[in-house]
Parts: sequence; structure tokens; C-alpha cells
Amino acid sequence: MNVYEAIFVRKSVRNYIMEAVNPQILEDIGNYYREIPALFSGVETELGIVDNTKKQQKLHGLFGIKAPYYLAIYSEEKDKYLMNAGYILQQLSLYLTARGLGSCYMGGAVVKGTQEQRGNKRLVIMMAFGKAKGTVTRKQIEAKRMPIKELCVYKETPRQWIRQILEAGRLAPSSMNTQPWRFVVFDNRVHVFSKKHSTDRLKKWDELNFGILFAHIMIVAEELWLDVDLIKLEDISQKSFPNNQYVLSVILKS
Ligand SMILES: Cc1cc2nc3c(=O)[nH]c(=O)nc-3n(C[C@H](O)[C@H](O)[C@H](O)COP(=O)(O)O)c2cc1C
Repeated sequence: MNVYEAIFVRKSVRNYIMEAVNPQILEDIGNYYREIPALFSGVETELGIVDNTKKQQKLHGLFGIKAPYYLAIYSEEKDKYLMNAGYILQQLSLYLTARGLGSCYMGGAVVKGTQEQRGNKRLVIMMAFGKAKGTVTRKQIEAKRMPIKELCVYKETPRQWIRQILEAGRLAPSSMNTQPWRFVVFDNRVHVFSKKHSTDRLKKWDELNFGILFAHIMIVAEELWLDVDLIKLEDISQKSFPNNQYVLSVILKS
């Protein structure tokens, strides 16, 4: 399985076997991280791996997951750094699935004793990972997600490449499965909007959620050999919408 195929079958894994993985895998994760593209290359990040196989450290916060390892992503706090972190972390999560390991974001908890700051970079979020008790995949149809017709508006039936991008976007994981994205398809473009929330609490991870979404979209684009850009269009940015906020557009370069 490669990362593209993992998009369609990955699931959050919350139960782990508390045993070590082959050290080569940990090295491979580090190497993979160094090679993956960031969404914004001007934002420096750093990856830490917390080994919990022996110490079995306590978790601090809500909805923590006991796991043999955790990824810790650190970032400079620049504009859209949370989106960038989600973009990187989702590629790592898919890589872990492809390598037969489970993973789960931990938005509510951190492992006690984890460094909060590394130089000029702040700890953004931790992700549990390791050998799963049970499977690390599920069938695409088993993913609890909204149907595309509820997420997307279009006048004409979208072309095949757009449908594939929308499906990969639909399957993106999000905090508490909020699926905050909405899509408007027009011609060779998919305009991506964020649903406005009634409470601020849910908003906390929205920017990171959108990074996850864009990771799925760009992996599909690469798989299909599509030359796409993610661009914020001025004319749409200036409009205001009652229930949605404009995020970015996925544009096929002609
Ligand atoms: C930013 C973010 C934070 C999350 N935080 C937690 C968490 O604290 N605990 C947890 O069990 N799951 C957490 N999740 C996992 C989501 O609940 C899960 O991705 C979503 O319900 C969809 O399920 P799936 O990943 O199995 O497709 C988080 C996901 C994201 C994207």
C-alpha cells in the first residue's frame, strides 16, 4: 500500500500493543518527514518521536490515547502554521498506515514531560502511533463521513479528476469528525470553504483540519499527474458569506 491508497482505508487507531517497533521504521519515519513537502515552505517545523514503550508515561488532558509511541510536531508560530502542521502530519499518518502501523491525532492531550518548546518552535499537537490491537484499515464505505452532495455544490457534473479530489477530501479526518469543509465546483476549480461554527471550542483545530484536507487533495493530484495550485483568490476573499468562510481554491493549471 502507498500513501495514496492509504487515504481511502486509513482509520484512527486507539488501541495499541505496547511493544517496540523495528528501529529501522523509526528511522524511516524521520527520513520520510524530511522529504515530504510542506504547504508553506517558509514555516520551519521539527518532528519529535516520544518512545513510551518502557516508561508508560501519563497523559495530561482529555481523550488521550495510550500508545507505545507519539509523534510530536513543533512549528514556528507564523501565519497558517497550524494548516501547515496538519498538512505534514497527515502525510505521516498515511505513511504509518502504509507501513502497517496505526495512528491517531491527540488534540486534547499531551504526554506529560514532553517539551513544550524547541528553540523558536512550539509543540502543536501529538499523534499516537504503533502496532495496533486489531486492524489499521477499514473499508472506504465504513468511514463515517457526510455524503458528497451535502458537502459540495456544483452546476454541472464534475469531471473525473475533480470527483477523485472531492472523494479524498471527503474522507479526510477532522477533530471530532466535524468535517468543516464545503466545496463549490466551477469548471476546473474547486473553491474550498469552512463552515462557520456556533461555538469557538470546535474552531480550535479547524486550521489544522484544513491542512489535513489539503494533504489528501495534493496526494491525489500527484497520483493523477495533475498540476494543481492551491491559491487564495482575491475576488472570493473579498465577498462575505453568511454560513461559510472562504479558505482556498484548488486550481488546475492549464
Ligand atoms: C486535529 C484532530 C484532533 C483529534 N483529537 C483526538 C483526540 O484527542 N482523541 C481521539 O481519540 N481522537 C482524536 N482525533 C481523531 C478524530 O476523532 C477522527 O479522526 C475522526 O473521528 C474521524 O475518524 P477516522 O480518523 O477513524 O476516520 C482527532 C483528529 C484530528 C484531526
